[in-house]
Amino acid sequence: MASFLSNLKYVAWTALAVAALFLIYFAVVEARIPFDDSRFWEAALRWGHVLVGIMWIGHLYYFNFTQIPNAPKIPEEHRGPSIGKVIAPAALYWFRWGAMLTLITGLLLAWNQNYLIEALSLGALDQPSFAAPKTILIGIGMWLAIIMWFNVWFIIWPNQQKALNIANAYPDLDAAAKASAAKTAMLFSRTNTFLSAPMLVAMTGASTLFG
Ligand code: HEM
Repeated sequence: MASFLSNLKYVAWTALAVAALFLIYFAVVEARIPFDDSRFWEAALRWGHVLVGIMWIGHLYYFNFTQIPNAPKIPEEHRGPSIGKVIAPAALYWFRWGAMLTLITGLLLAWNQNYLIEALSLGALDQPSFAAPKTILIGIGMWLAIIMWFNVWFIIWPNQQKALNIANAYPDLDAAAKASAAKTAMLFSRTNTFLSAPMLVAMTGASTLFG
Protein backbone atom coordinates (compact mmCIF):
# COMPACT_ATOMS: atom_id res chain seq x y z
CA MET A 1 0.00 0.00 0.00
CA ALA A 2 2.80 2.42 0.91
CA SER A 3 4.48 1.81 -2.46
CA PHE A 4 1.17 2.50 -4.28
CA LEU A 5 0.57 5.72 -2.30
CA SER A 6 4.16 6.84 -2.88
CA ASN A 7 3.58 6.87 -6.64
CA LEU A 8 1.59 9.99 -7.51
CA LYS A 9 0.81 8.82 -11.06
CA TYR A 10 -0.74 5.56 -9.82
CA VAL A 11 -2.79 7.41 -7.20
CA ALA A 12 -4.04 10.08 -9.62
CA TRP A 13 -5.02 7.67 -12.43
CA THR A 14 -6.62 5.18 -10.03
CA ALA A 15 -8.62 7.99 -8.40
CA LEU A 16 -9.92 9.07 -11.82
CA ALA A 17 -10.86 5.47 -12.70
CA VAL A 18 -12.72 4.99 -9.38
CA ALA A 19 -14.49 8.34 -9.88
CA ALA A 20 -15.59 7.31 -13.39
CA LEU A 21 -16.98 3.96 -12.15
CA PHE A 22 -18.69 5.71 -9.23
CA LEU A 23 -20.35 8.24 -11.57
CA ILE A 24 -21.37 5.59 -14.13
CA TYR A 25 -22.85 3.31 -11.46
CA PHE A 26 -24.98 6.03 -9.84
CA ALA A 27 -25.99 7.70 -13.12
CA VAL A 28 -26.74 4.64 -15.24
CA VAL A 29 -27.77 1.99 -12.70
CA GLU A 30 -29.33 3.97 -9.85
CA ALA A 31 -30.67 7.12 -11.57
CA ARG A 32 -31.30 5.27 -14.89
CA ILE A 33 -29.79 8.07 -16.97
CA PRO A 34 -28.22 6.60 -20.15
CA PHE A 35 -25.00 7.88 -21.74
CA ASP A 36 -26.88 9.61 -24.56
CA ASP A 37 -28.91 11.70 -22.08
CA SER A 38 -27.48 15.24 -21.69
CA ARG A 39 -27.95 14.91 -17.90
CA PHE A 40 -25.28 12.22 -17.84
CA TRP A 41 -22.82 14.62 -19.47
CA GLU A 42 -23.99 17.44 -17.19
CA ALA A 43 -23.10 15.29 -14.17
CA ALA A 44 -19.74 14.30 -15.69
CA LEU A 45 -18.92 17.91 -16.63
CA ARG A 46 -19.92 19.25 -13.19
CA TRP A 47 -17.60 16.75 -11.55
CA GLY A 48 -14.73 17.53 -13.95
CA HIS A 49 -15.33 21.29 -13.67
CA VAL A 50 -15.17 21.32 -9.87
CA LEU A 51 -12.12 18.99 -9.89
CA VAL A 52 -10.03 21.20 -12.19
CA GLY A 53 -11.45 24.33 -10.50
CA ILE A 54 -9.97 23.04 -7.23
CA MET A 55 -6.65 22.47 -9.01
CA TRP A 56 -6.68 26.12 -10.12
CA ILE A 57 -8.05 27.89 -7.06
CA GLY A 58 -6.11 25.57 -4.73
CA HIS A 59 -2.86 26.83 -6.27
CA LEU A 60 -4.12 30.43 -6.24
CA TYR A 61 -4.73 30.14 -2.48
CA TYR A 62 -1.38 28.37 -1.98
CA PHE A 63 0.38 31.37 -3.57
CA ASN A 64 -1.65 33.97 -1.69
CA PHE A 65 -2.08 32.41 1.75
CA THR A 66 1.12 30.34 2.01
CA GLN A 67 3.98 31.22 -0.32
CA ILE A 68 3.77 35.02 -0.73
CA PRO A 69 3.29 35.87 2.99
CA ASN A 70 5.82 33.31 4.27
CA ALA A 71 8.69 33.29 1.75
CA PRO A 72 10.08 36.64 3.06
CA LYS A 73 10.22 35.16 6.60
CA ILE A 74 12.92 32.70 5.46
CA PRO A 75 16.27 34.24 6.47
CA GLU A 76 18.29 35.49 3.48
CA GLU A 77 21.08 32.92 4.02
CA HIS A 78 18.57 29.98 3.95
CA ARG A 79 16.48 31.14 1.00
CA GLY A 80 18.41 29.50 -1.85
CA PRO A 81 16.92 29.16 -5.33
CA SER A 82 14.56 26.22 -4.60
CA ILE A 83 11.22 28.10 -4.29
CA GLY A 84 11.77 30.30 -7.35
CA LYS A 85 13.49 27.70 -9.51
CA VAL A 86 11.68 24.47 -8.59
CA ILE A 87 8.47 24.89 -6.55
CA ALA A 88 6.97 28.03 -8.15
CA PRO A 89 7.41 26.90 -11.81
CA ALA A 90 5.77 23.53 -10.99
CA ALA A 91 2.94 25.24 -9.09
CA LEU A 92 2.47 27.68 -12.00
CA TYR A 93 2.15 24.75 -14.43
CA TRP A 94 -0.79 23.14 -12.55
CA PHE A 95 -2.20 26.62 -11.81
CA ARG A 96 -2.44 27.82 -15.41
CA TRP A 97 -3.53 24.50 -16.95
CA GLY A 98 -6.09 24.10 -14.12
CA ALA A 99 -7.42 27.53 -15.15
CA MET A 100 -7.60 26.48 -18.83
CA LEU A 101 -9.44 23.22 -18.10
CA THR A 102 -11.82 25.03 -15.71
CA LEU A 103 -12.70 27.51 -18.46
CA ILE A 104 -13.25 24.75 -21.05
CA THR A 105 -15.38 22.53 -18.78
CA GLY A 106 -17.35 25.59 -17.55
CA LEU A 107 -18.19 26.70 -21.12
CA LEU A 108 -19.15 23.11 -22.03
CA LEU A 109 -21.36 22.92 -18.93
CA ALA A 110 -23.29 26.03 -20.01
CA TRP A 111 -23.47 24.80 -23.63
CA ASN A 112 -24.72 21.37 -22.47
CA GLN A 113 -27.56 23.11 -20.62
CA ASN A 114 -28.36 25.34 -23.63
CA TYR A 115 -27.73 28.68 -21.93
CA LEU A 116 -24.16 29.54 -23.01
CA ILE A 117 -24.98 32.60 -25.17
CA GLU A 118 -27.85 33.72 -22.95
CA ALA A 119 -25.56 33.63 -19.89
CA LEU A 120 -22.55 35.29 -21.55
CA SER A 121 -24.77 38.09 -22.92
CA LEU A 122 -26.54 38.34 -19.52
CA GLY A 123 -29.81 38.01 -21.43
CA ALA A 124 -29.21 41.14 -23.54
CA LEU A 125 -29.79 39.24 -26.80
CA ASP A 126 -33.11 37.78 -25.63
CA GLN A 127 -36.56 38.91 -26.80
CA PRO A 128 -37.77 40.55 -24.60
CA SER A 129 -34.27 41.31 -23.37
CA PHE A 130 -34.56 39.70 -19.97
CA ALA A 131 -32.95 36.40 -19.04
CA ALA A 132 -33.99 34.17 -16.17
CA PRO A 133 -32.32 35.23 -12.86
CA LYS A 134 -30.40 31.94 -12.82
CA THR A 135 -28.84 32.73 -16.20
CA ILE A 136 -27.93 36.25 -15.12
CA LEU A 137 -26.37 34.98 -11.89
CA ILE A 138 -24.30 32.27 -13.60
CA GLY A 139 -23.45 34.73 -16.41
CA ILE A 140 -21.97 37.19 -13.89
CA GLY A 141 -20.02 34.31 -12.29
CA MET A 142 -18.77 33.16 -15.69
CA TRP A 143 -17.53 36.66 -16.55
CA LEU A 144 -15.78 37.04 -13.18
CA ALA A 145 -14.08 33.65 -13.76
CA ILE A 146 -13.20 34.54 -17.37
CA ILE A 147 -11.53 37.77 -16.13
CA MET A 148 -9.62 35.62 -13.61
CA TRP A 149 -8.60 33.20 -16.39
CA PHE A 150 -7.41 36.14 -18.52
CA ASN A 151 -5.35 37.45 -15.61
CA VAL A 152 -3.71 34.03 -15.18
CA TRP A 153 -2.76 33.49 -18.82
CA PHE A 154 -2.02 37.02 -19.99
CA ILE A 155 -0.73 38.85 -16.90
CA ILE A 156 0.33 36.54 -14.04
CA TRP A 157 2.05 33.82 -16.13
CA PRO A 158 4.03 36.15 -18.49
CA ASN A 159 5.15 38.29 -15.53
CA GLN A 160 6.17 35.23 -13.49
CA GLN A 161 8.17 33.98 -16.49
CA LYS A 162 10.06 37.28 -16.36
CA ALA A 163 10.37 37.45 -12.57
CA LEU A 164 11.69 33.87 -12.24
CA ASN A 165 13.37 33.66 -15.67
CA ILE A 166 11.48 30.39 -16.26
CA ALA A 167 13.09 28.18 -18.95
CA ASN A 168 15.73 30.91 -19.27
CA ALA A 169 13.34 32.93 -21.49
CA TYR A 170 14.54 36.29 -20.10
CA PRO A 171 18.26 35.86 -19.29
CA ASP A 172 19.12 39.56 -19.65
CA LEU A 173 16.42 41.10 -17.42
CA ASP A 174 17.88 43.24 -14.60
CA ALA A 175 16.85 42.94 -10.94
CA ALA A 176 14.57 46.03 -11.07
CA ALA A 177 12.63 44.69 -14.09
CA LYS A 178 12.27 41.28 -12.38
CA ALA A 179 11.01 42.92 -9.17
CA SER A 180 8.49 45.00 -11.12
CA ALA A 181 7.21 41.87 -12.98
CA ALA A 182 6.91 40.00 -9.66
CA LYS A 183 4.92 42.93 -8.19
CA THR A 184 2.50 42.99 -11.16
CA ALA A 185 2.00 39.20 -10.93
CA MET A 186 1.35 39.47 -7.18
CA LEU A 187 -1.22 42.30 -7.56
CA PHE A 188 -3.21 40.39 -10.20
CA SER A 189 -2.96 37.15 -8.21
CA ARG A 190 -4.38 39.08 -5.22
CA THR A 191 -7.13 40.50 -7.47
CA ASN A 192 -8.07 36.93 -8.45
CA THR A 193 -8.14 35.90 -4.77
CA PHE A 194 -10.56 38.78 -4.18
CA LEU A 195 -12.77 37.87 -7.16
CA SER A 196 -12.84 34.14 -6.28
CA ALA A 197 -15.28 34.52 -3.36
CA PRO A 198 -18.08 36.40 -5.19
CA MET A 199 -17.47 34.29 -8.31
CA LEU A 200 -18.17 31.13 -6.29
CA VAL A 201 -21.49 32.55 -5.03
CA ALA A 202 -22.64 32.51 -8.65
CA MET A 203 -21.16 29.08 -9.45
CA THR A 204 -22.62 27.35 -6.42
CA GLY A 205 -25.78 29.45 -6.05
CA ALA A 206 -27.19 29.34 -9.58
CA SER A 207 -28.64 25.82 -9.30
CA THR A 208 -29.37 25.98 -5.58
CA LEU A 209 -31.25 29.29 -5.58
CA PHE A 210 -33.04 28.96 -8.91
CA GLY A 211 -32.82 25.17 -9.62
C1 HEM B 1 -13.34 29.90 -15.93
C2 HEM B 1 -14.60 30.13 -16.25
C3 HEM B 1 -15.76 29.37 -15.66
C4 HEM B 1 -16.91 29.12 -16.33
C5 HEM B 1 -17.20 29.51 -17.77
C6 HEM B 1 -17.79 28.40 -15.43
C7 HEM B 1 -19.07 27.96 -15.71
C8 HEM B 1 -19.89 27.24 -14.86
C9 HEM B 1 -21.22 26.79 -15.17
C10 HEM B 1 -21.94 27.06 -16.47
C11 HEM B 1 -21.70 26.13 -14.10
C12 HEM B 1 -23.07 25.46 -13.98
C13 HEM B 1 -24.00 26.31 -13.16
C14 HEM B 1 -25.37 25.67 -13.03
O1 HEM B 1 -26.01 25.47 -14.05
O2 HEM B 1 -25.74 25.38 -11.89
C15 HEM B 1 -20.68 26.15 -13.10
C16 HEM B 1 -20.82 25.57 -11.86
C17 HEM B 1 -19.83 25.54 -10.92
N1 HEM B 1 -18.58 26.08 -11.04
FE1 HEM B 1 -17.86 27.15 -12.63
N2 HEM B 1 -17.15 28.24 -14.22
C18 HEM B 1 -15.90 28.80 -14.31
C19 HEM B 1 -14.96 28.83 -13.31
C20 HEM B 1 -15.07 28.21 -12.08
C21 HEM B 1 -14.05 28.22 -11.06
C22 HEM B 1 -12.71 28.92 -11.12
C23 HEM B 1 -14.51 27.48 -10.03
C24 HEM B 1 -13.76 27.20 -8.75
C25 HEM B 1 -13.70 26.05 -8.17
C26 HEM B 1 -15.83 27.00 -10.38
C27 HEM B 1 -16.64 26.22 -9.58
C28 HEM B 1 -17.91 25.83 -9.86
C29 HEM B 1 -18.76 25.09 -8.96
C30 HEM B 1 -18.40 24.60 -7.55
C31 HEM B 1 -19.97 24.91 -9.62
C32 HEM B 1 -21.22 24.25 -9.08
C33 HEM B 1 -21.32 22.83 -9.48
C34 HEM B 1 -22.61 22.24 -8.96
O3 HEM B 1 -23.23 22.78 -8.03
O4 HEM B 1 -23.00 21.21 -9.45
N3 HEM B 1 -16.14 27.47 -11.64
N4 HEM B 1 -19.58 26.83 -13.58
